[in-house]
Amino acid sequence: MCGIVGYIGNRESQPILLEGLKKLEYRGYDSAGIAVFTEQGLEVTKTVGRLANLEGRLQGDPLRGTVGIGHTRWATHGKPSDVNSHPHMDNTLKFSVVHNGIIENYLELKEELMHQGHRFLSETDTEIISHLIAVEYEGDIVKAVQKAVRKMRGAFALGVLTEYEPDRLVAVRYASPLIIGIGEGEKYIASDIPAILEHTRDIYILNDGEMAVLTRDGVELMTVEGNPIAKDVFHVDWDLMTAEKAGFDHFMLKEIHEQPKAYRDTMRGRLSDDGKSVSLTELSITPEQLRAINRVHIVACGTAMHAGLVGKTIIEQLARVPVETDVASEYRYRSPIITPETLVIVVSQSGETADTLAALREAKRNGARVLAITNVVGSSVAREADDVIITLAGPEIAVASTKAYTSQLIAFYLFGLHYAQVLGTQDEAFVSHVLAAMQSLPEQVEKILSQAEVIKKIAESISRHANLFFIGRGLDYAVALEGSLKLKEISYIHSEAYAAGELKHGTLALIEEGIPVISLITQEDLQEKTLSNIKEVKARGADVFAVVNEGNEAEIAKSVDSLFAIPRTLPLLTPALSVVPLQLLSYYASLALGHDVDKPRNLAKSVTVE
Ligand code: M6R
Repeated sequence: MCGIVGYIGNRESQPILLEGLKKLEYRGYDSAGIAVFTEQGLEVTKTVGRLANLEGRLQGDPLRGTVGIGHTRWATHGKPSDVNSHPHMDNTLKFSVVHNGIIENYLELKEELMHQGHRFLSETDTEIISHLIAVEYEGDIVKAVQKAVRKMRGAFALGVLTEYEPDRLVAVRYASPLIIGIGEGEKYIASDIPAILEHTRDIYILNDGEMAVLTRDGVELMTVEGNPIAKDVFHVDWDLMTAEKAGFDHFMLKEIHEQPKAYRDTMRGRLSDDGKSVSLTELSITPEQLRAINRVHIVACGTAMHAGLVGKTIIEQLARVPVETDVASEYRYRSPIITPETLVIVVSQSGETADTLAALREAKRNGARVLAITNVVGSSVAREADDVIITLAGPEIAVASTKAYTSQLIAFYLFGLHYAQVLGTQDEAFVSHVLAAMQSLPEQVEKILSQAEVIKKIAESISRHANLFFIGRGLDYAVALEGSLKLKEISYIHSEAYAAGELKHGTLALIEEGIPVISLITQEDLQEKTLSNIKEVKARGADVFAVVNEGNEAEIAKSVDSLFAIPRTLPLLTPALSVVPLQLLSYYASLALGHDVDKPRNLAKSVTVE
């Protein structure tokens, strides 16, 4: 997730921009840069790597001036590099832009601009924005930005400067956050409050489709169509730590709440214009090559492996190709049968997990084609795989993975549908039906999140137990495994996830009076069977909490002690919803026990050792 800072005032802008960018480091980034109006004109310094690298470059050659924009980039289009870093300029070097988000139709726009003779230096979608604005400029930067924005599709927050109007800084928000800071004789823009908190606590929060024109003495607010708007000033009374977490108590809770956005971002640009089919233009594997694949192996660790278990069902159901899912640390030592007709899908949030990387290399050594699903552009996994689907969850800071897991599910749905389209295993109507249901998922997650208090109460009660069980069948079992891992890693409560029908083969011996059993009952074709298994644990005194589909509450309430209903979706899509109450359950259980939610004991965010 990129970070934007901008300043217009009477003080030197470089230190303000650098300090602001440091406050946005928590968002994750791989390169950084600033543009400042100096006596020579609009000058840019940018570099790949940490902000310290940028500071190093600026030390010998500072950019002096009182108006500037700065950026930390988290790569989405094009690898992390000096040239792909922001700010980007047009060919005349008169316009400079920083951008957070994605321009969906940038390839189309880039081609048009190239026909008009524009030259591009970077692989980014952002660079086209500075060119578009330059093309539209007729003496008024505000109008030029408005015209350019009208041509762009996607999600973006922009900071724009032009050498022709050095006393104006233009900001636009369209589905990526941006705030305006108000100071005496100086104004700011930023992606997030911490970046400017030391300078001002009075801000305007831009909504989608709004823009601001900043001068030293004022802020003009309007829609991107140019209609003036009025806004109340928001006074921030949070401290810096709270501000970094956007008001949430922990990064984990913030990331759980970011899932609707992560779903939308991961889907954005990967559907046809009418939204009825999948278009994974980033894949280089041809339809012929995909048709030649006779088996799929999914390999990953921890939560990513649990996403892979769901991925197995998705691909098997949609594309009707046999899939095996393996733990990466086991895969390469079990002498798996890998041939050039095997597609190996490695899944990794960080893209740096040593076991997953080793499995990827083993697969390549054996001639397989490798597709990576990862959250980090330019990571080792992304660089070494033949094809990559980037999940656009944004940086995940909490050790316990939440939004990365659900974005991996979205990537699997997209890939499964793409695969089905290529093989012709599902008709167009079905694909479009699934895609329509997928587009409702973000709102459905929002609905679940709005009922977090219900889960909190259940969590407080289970936090008093030393052991518990998660059970489910089919996809519910795959989600149970993830729910159990989440609970273990941050609450340190021992739990086991069981295929509900397997309990009677041994584990039932552990069910005793009062033990909590979390049951997932969202796969309705298996509902009766799971309810029979629930009877088995109830008969031995278990306290059963169930996650069910809306509409089934009354029926299931007869068999369980408490329940939570998730909105209805297609059976195949339920994992993207049913996992959310389980994430909240582990979060609130950990909180009730007083643990460090974001940094649980004995764990690291990225495991780069075998
Ligand atoms: O970065 P990766 O997705 O490759 O990480 C894999 C696991 O280490 C990770 O999912 C781990 O299980 C998380 N702590 C789970 O919340």
